[in-house]
Amino acid sequence: MFKNLFTKEAPKKMHVIAVASGKGGVGKSTVAVNLAYALKNLGASVGLLDADIYGPSLPLLLHTTTPINHEENQTKDGKMIPPSYAGVKMLSTGHFGEQLKATVMRGPMVNSLIKQLFSSVAWGQLDYLIIDYPPGTGDIQITLSQIANLAGAILVTTPGEIALSDVRKALHMFELTNTELLGVVENMSSFICDSCDKEHKIFGTEGGEVLAKEFHLELLGKIPIEAKAAQSADSGKPIVFSDKNCISSKKFEEIAKKIHTKLQNKTSDNLENFSLKWQKA
Ligand SMILES: Nc1ncnc2c1ncn2[C@@H]1O[C@H](COP(=O)(O)OP(=O)(O)O)[C@@H](O)[C@H]1O
Ligand SMILES: [Mg+2]
Repeated sequence: MFKNLFTKEAPKKMHVIAVASGKGGVGKSTVAVNLAYALKNLGASVGLLDADIYGPSLPLLLHTTTPINHEENQTKDGKMIPPSYAGVKMLSTGHFGEQLKATVMRGPMVNSLIKQLFSSVAWGQLDYLIIDYPPGTGDIQITLSQIANLAGAILVTTPGEIALSDVRKALHMFELTNTELLGVVENMSSFICDSCDKEHKIFGTEGGEVLAKEFHLELLGKIPIEAKAAQSADSGKPIVFSDKNCISSKKFEEIAKKIHTKLQNKTSDNLENFSLKWQKA
């Protein structure tokens, strides 16, 4: 099903993509992780940075809860070597174990951590670095948007009006930091019932369409609620590699292709150019 869109001759330019929403629980991490693996399935080399310091979910979504000894896994110039999981490099503060008690970290500490986390990782040659953004539109998100050299941001929303109002805030934050908006993903668009096979629009509204129309953005895709996808996430396997043929996986593949098409001609600096060294937190 997945065709390799990347040839060996293709030049490696890293595109950093923010997956964001003003709100928690709308599926940012789900979209970030599945987009990363869908791009990998298309042949790209991909990294995933979990920037949700207060609620890192990558270790659970990818079943890598064991703390990683970043002091041992360093390059000669002191950069962290990110672990790989099923072909995608990744980093999350959730992998630092007891070293980081993020829940009691105050704003300025988190800001400084974000800067170090972002600039001190030896990602190597990547086509895409996907950043799973923390919810909200405060200092942390603004700092991240300013330092990440983003190729663009994807906004995730659920169909209802309450989610939309928060997503609008995220959208304005990206406008303030001059970040290109790559489009909108509407998650939990409808519920596909296992027994009757019908699609139920439980939220009623079409939030993705509303947002896309209001701000002249592309609606990249509508992901249904699929019990299979939730179960797969809970067992530490993104749906795009546990079941490539289910509806959500196909939607994620379409989104990945759209993103790839949008960005393939854009240039972007490689993170290797950053010179800050990793320091103990
Ligand atoms: N399309 C979907 N179908 C089924 N479950 C989903 C879907 N999207 C998200 N979920 C589930 O909803 C919960 C919240 O999603 P998550 O990606 O962690 O949200 P966020 O990162 O925005 O807080 C998770 O348990 C996740 O597995
Ligand atoms: Mg999350």
